[in-house]
Amino acid sequence: MMSEDMKRLAAERAVADVTSGMKLGIGTGSTAEHFVRALGARVREGLQVIGVPTSERTRALAEAEGIPLTTLEETPALDLTVDGADEIDPALSLIKGGGGAHLREKIVAAASTRMIVIADSSKCVETLGKFPLPIEVVPFGLGATRIAIGKVFADLGLSGDLRMRGGAEHPFVTDGGHYILDAHLGAIPDPQALAAALVAVPGVVEHGLFIGLAAKAYVAGPDGVFEMTA
Ligand code: A5P
Repeated sequence: MMSEDMKRLAAERAVADVTSGMKLGIGTGSTAEHFVRALGARVREGLQVIGVPTSERTRALAEAEGIPLTTLEETPALDLTVDGADEIDPALSLIKGGGGAHLREKIVAAASTRMIVIADSSKCVETLGKFPLPIEVVPFGLGATRIAIGKVFADLGLSGDLRMRGGAEHPFVTDGGHYILDAHLGAIPDPQALAAALVAVPGVVEHGLFIGLAAKAYVAGPDGVFEMTA
């Protein structure tokens, strides 16, 4: 089975958990896009939901699919967020932000009673960190912020690569107007400690470690979808 088919299967499994009346957080990325399309099909059949998109990209797709949208200002408490991930460990700690949307994704997931992760099985790891950890920073003071982040990673001698726009000379800019540093850590033995150290750095807006947010994951492998719970 192709990875795209696996992503679609996981997304369809999550759509089956959506019931009428739900207030949804709607994730970002190629797996979440399958969810938006499958959800759109259910909405056109009469399912009544309202959603908060986690990026401008997802907003555009959800609008095109006819999914009614709201904001966290109008609807601050959500029932369920469905989103993809870049890495998932056995405790359902995640790395997210490969698409640069992890700030809004984390705010939306934290505003939801439950978060379900959807992924293909290539995202499952024993220890997080092979995927570069995205760290969103404000452009002001970038040089100083990188030095401070470097101190957090003291033993590793790195401070994160500034993410650039595909092939361009300009930095990638998030929906919130920030930059992203991708930290190639290799392994994150203590995600909780790293998360705490990173948020303590002035200039760091948010990092891609999602700890204690996901309740369940639908992961699709060659043999179909399996469920992981925290
Ligand atoms: C977006 O910033 C990310 O957090 C995505 O949810 C994550 O990168 C997974 O994306 P894919 O489903 O495209 O792998």
